[in-house]
Amino acid sequence: MPTTPLPRPGDAGAQHGAVALDRRDEWTALAGHRERFAGTSLRELFDADPERVRRHTLHVGDLHVDLSKNLVTEETLRLLTDLARATGVAELRDAMLGGGRINLTEDRAVLHTALRAPRGAVVETDGKNVVPEVQEVLDRMSAFAEKVRARQWLGHTGQPVTRIVNIGIGGSDLGPAMAYEALRPYSDRGLEVRFVSNVDGSDLHEALADADPATTLFVISSKTFTTIETITNATVARSWLVDALGSEKAIARHFAAVSTNAEEVARFGIDTDNMFGFWDWVGGRYSYDSAIGLTLMVAIGPERFREMLAGFHLMDTHFATAPIERNLPFLLGLLGVWYGNFMGAESHAVLPYSQHLARFPDYLQQLDMESNGKSVQRDGRPVSWQTGPVVWGTPGTNGQHAYFQLLHQGTRFVPADLIGFANPAPDLPEALVPQHDLLMANMFAQGQALAFGRTAEEVAAEGVAAELVPHRTFPGNRPTTTILADRLSPSVLGQLVALYEHKVFVQGAVWNINSFDQWGVQLGKVLAERVEPALTEGADVPGLDASTASLVSSYRALRGR
Ligand code: F6P
Repeated sequence: MPTTPLPRPGDAGAQHGAVALDRRDEWTALAGHRERFAGTSLRELFDADPERVRRHTLHVGDLHVDLSKNLVTEETLRLLTDLARATGVAELRDAMLGGGRINLTEDRAVLHTALRAPRGAVVETDGKNVVPEVQEVLDRMSAFAEKVRARQWLGHTGQPVTRIVNIGIGGSDLGPAMAYEALRPYSDRGLEVRFVSNVDGSDLHEALADADPATTLFVISSKTFTTIETITNATVARSWLVDALGSEKAIARHFAAVSTNAEEVARFGIDTDNMFGFWDWVGGRYSYDSAIGLTLMVAIGPERFREMLAGFHLMDTHFATAPIERNLPFLLGLLGVWYGNFMGAESHAVLPYSQHLARFPDYLQQLDMESNGKSVQRDGRPVSWQTGPVVWGTPGTNGQHAYFQLLHQGTRFVPADLIGFANPAPDLPEALVPQHDLLMANMFAQGQALAFGRTAEEVAAEGVAAELVPHRTFPGNRPTTTILADRLSPSVLGQLVALYEHKVFVQGAVWNINSFDQWGVQLGKVLAERVEPALTEGADVPGLDASTASLVSSYRALRGR
């Protein structure tokens, strides 16, 4: 139970005060603006303003961000920034960065920004500077990673470990797995790195099928060290190893843990010398730049890992200091509010034109949907406005041959982010480099087609038969934000991730929800624990509904029980 009392409706801690968001003048002004905006097209907006691209392009760190293809005018942006001011987003940001316990329902500070603060910086919560501890863990991680990378971390039989299997789920998997894929060109290719998350035994089986226990190191990543999927997989991994190497003593050389729960780590049998800690002020989905990134650090090395942290910090500094009108996370967050609350968008697509960012949309799903998939306000009142969108996407150009048809000509309105890089991966063989222009030509072309479409007149002028004209017309007006950078370096990845973290924050603050708890994942966990004995032993589960009871009995019959 929180020790700090939760705010009541209208309390200052409730952030928005007594006036509901959708009753605010700034909200009503946006709704009125939306009415007047109806029918405005991106073609018109571009024609009317030759300076539009220049005025709506921002350069932050290494990111070149073109917002011009969004369905907004100067007035829209002014009204949105008015809303951000009225809802105290900057004040909540400052409270977060200052170590305030803004995660009200868990009574915790939210300080992932301290994880990437430079050595020597001061970030305090409860009067304590947390940076020295953060740096100490980073130094221990670095020593461990260097040892593995130098092949000096020897397994029980004296052989160096060369396969790292990260076992974790949610924030203890998606971040490091995404970043490992993204930064693979910077990784030690002599190390085999695998990520196991699913409690489906096939996941672990595939990771170990061709593994040699003598050279395999498990990194058990779990903030709580009680997550059923992770502990189940870790327990099987431990037996696999001990059976193969013939001694419990092998565990010390083949298991490391990343957790905030030293007691459970010790109970599991992992030497706490091989444990890397973090803190309750790091949320799971905000944790891959903490010790949860250990596997990533082993793969890419401490230096690259620190470059990534510097990229995060660059964006943190921009978020903390840039005026709202030129503050990228504010603008992306507010555009999402505009589309989701006033233009009827239900989802948001993230389309990286980079195979190395294949896992980025998966990562963002947890970051965004676990943070902002909420329907009560910070003070417990229900919201009467939409909150977080469904976030989805896959890398281009693959998506173009799957769902882009709907994006271009469907009835749904799906704003999208296009993310691409001027240069291909640094290790791409010469023969494959020319393809990069084709990849990027596709990204630019999609943004153009989505924004400007093709009118019936233009289609007809191409000589298309009259009856086919409606089928070949593209309405356009599908907004995109284009994010372009030199290359997908560790620093650029850090900048990108921090940008989305803070965008999610801005939206949660406007919607007056707590973006930092995740009570919505509890019920399913509790029910699964109740249902399992029904599957295994046929136990009676009191209160099981008729449909679930019937599925349980069919399952048992199919398993021959
Ligand atoms: O899905 C719920 C959740 O608590 C996430 O927020 C978290 O990232 C994940 O489970 C894993 O938790 P842990 O790191 O404690 O194993």
